[in-house]
This record gives sequence, C-alpha cells and structure tokens, in this order.
Amino acid sequence: MCLFRVLLLMVGPAVTAVGADNCPSAVVDASCPPSWILWGHSCYRLTDAPHHWYQSMLACHDMGAKMAVPYSPQENEFMMQMAQNETKYWIGCRDIINEGTWECDAQGDGEPYLNWWDGNPENYGDYEHCLISLPYYYNNGNINDHECYTFFRTICVKKQDKCIHHPVQPACGYPPTRARNYCFTTDADGQLLNSCLLDHVIGEFVTKSSPQCASACILEPRCHSFNIKHNHQGQTICQINNATRCNDPAQFQEIGSYCIYAQECIN
Ligand SMILES: *[C@@H]1O[C@H](CO)[C@@H](O)[C@H](O)[C@H]1NC(C)=O
Ligand SMILES: *[C@@H]1O[C@H](CO)[C@@H](O)[C@H](O)[C@H]1NC(C)=O
Repeated sequence: MCLFRVLLLMVGPAVTAVGADNCPSAVVDASCPPSWILWGHSCYRLTDAPHHWYQSMLACHDMGAKMAVPYSPQENEFMMQMAQNETKYWIGCRDIINEGTWECDAQGDGEPYLNWWDGNPENYGDYEHCLISLPYYYNNGNINDHECYTFFRTICVKKQDKCIHHPVQPACGYPPTRARNYCFTTDADGQLLNSCLLDHVIGEFVTKSSPQCASACILEPRCHSFNIKHNHQGQTICQINNATRCNDPAQFQEIGSYCIYAQECIN
C-alpha cells in the first residue's frame, strides 16, 4: 500500500505542500466559499439587502470580510460588473472624521482608485460623507460622495481560503474516490483563522501533517471537515468531524489555543 508521505510546511500564514514518493502530492490551491466570486486573490460578494453605509460595513464584517474599495481600474470594472443590476452601491470609504480624507475599510496596496464622477466629491449640503458607485448612471466616472444613511447594497471582499488540493487515485490502494480539495478558513487579511468546529468530532489521532488529516477525512465517508490543534504535549492532533461549520455555525469557535479548520472546497 502506498502511503501519503506529504509534508505540509507552514510559514506564517503561507501554506506550502511538498509531495514525496510516487504518490499524488497535495498542492495548495485556493477558492471562494459558495456565493462568493473569485477575482485576483480575493473573494467578493454583494450583500443580500440594502442598508445604510454603517450597517453595510457590519454586514461585511459579519461574514469575515471588509467593505470593498477598488484599487485599480480593473477592480473598479469588475465591481461594476458584479453590481450591474444595482443603480448605486456603497464603496467602503467615508470622510466623516476629516472632511476630504477618505478612510477605507479594506486596506489594499497603494491608494484606492476613485474614479470620480465629474464635479465630485462636492460634499453637497455638508452631509455627503460616504462613497457610492453608480454603475447605472456611469458617464465620465462612477464614484460619488453621498449621504451615509440612505439604503444601498455593498460589495464585501475577503482573501480567498487556502486549500490543499488532494488528488486520490485508486492506484495508491485507496478505495476509488474523486479528488478532493480542502480549504483552510482564513480571515479578511488572509491569515489562517484560529477557530475550529466543536461537538462533531467522530475521530481523533496524533498526526504529523495536515494532508495526513485530509487523507483520514477522505477515507471516512462520514467526514465533512477536520480540525488541527495542539495538545499539552505539543503534539499535533487531527480531529475529523461529521459536519461542516456551515451546518452548525454556533459551534465554530475559538478554543483559546491553536486550532485551525478545513473543509472541502466548493469549486
Ligand atoms: C441582473 O439581472 C438579470 C435579470 O434579472 C439576471 O439575469 C442577471 O443574472 C443579473 N446579473 C447579476 C450580475 O446579478
Ligand atoms: C456527529 O457526531 C456527534 C458526536 O461528535 C454525534 O452526537 C452526532 O449524532 C453525529 N451526527 C451525525 C449526523 O451523525
């Protein structure tokens, strides 16, 4: 029988997998959760309902994301395409603290790309402190300052999940099964999220690597996700779960010590 001898190296938030022998090796891949769209290295989604600017920001934060701001003409175009059915949508910047200084929720590299609508920002009536995009009315620009307490949808953005792509082949002695991708959950900054799924553990063992834990999950038909944590002896523990965090969001928690979580990726 062929063993999965796959080494997972973790260097800060970066995850790199290195394969050995003639076994299929795990490679790190990435994807977005259901209903999020991948663009560049981030995942985007439109909020479900219109809210004022502050509630819209909280709606993004509740999904582990930030309120999106374009950082390039290409990203601006992409966002307008995404929100093409909205006449207006919120952009994640406001200048309520310092008139004319736009503070943005999502920090990108460099300056936000604010493609100002002709004659704007104008701070009309001294109450326009939040940014909108106007895909529907686009003429020579699409960004405008607007009163914060009107109701629009917004686009949330977060870094894509980090995945181990784990091909499984019958040639390696495992029951025939399709290849699977496992994604580790990350926060909006792309750091591995220190949270695990509690109360659904159906198996637990000491492991040397994340791919070994992924293999165990593949071989157990009831397994839908896994946790990786450390015990008091400093060993790495793999816990396989019979549910995902989507099935039981209340039990997806920090445990006060290191614990990361992975589940099968959707795409
Ligand atoms: C916009 O609305 C049309 C008609 O309802 C729909 O077919 C399309 O998928 C929508 N586009 C987006 C990007 O949501
Ligand atoms: C999942 O495992 C838990 C124990 O961790 C058990 O109580 C529960 O009944 C199991 N659920 C299913 C659907 O098998």
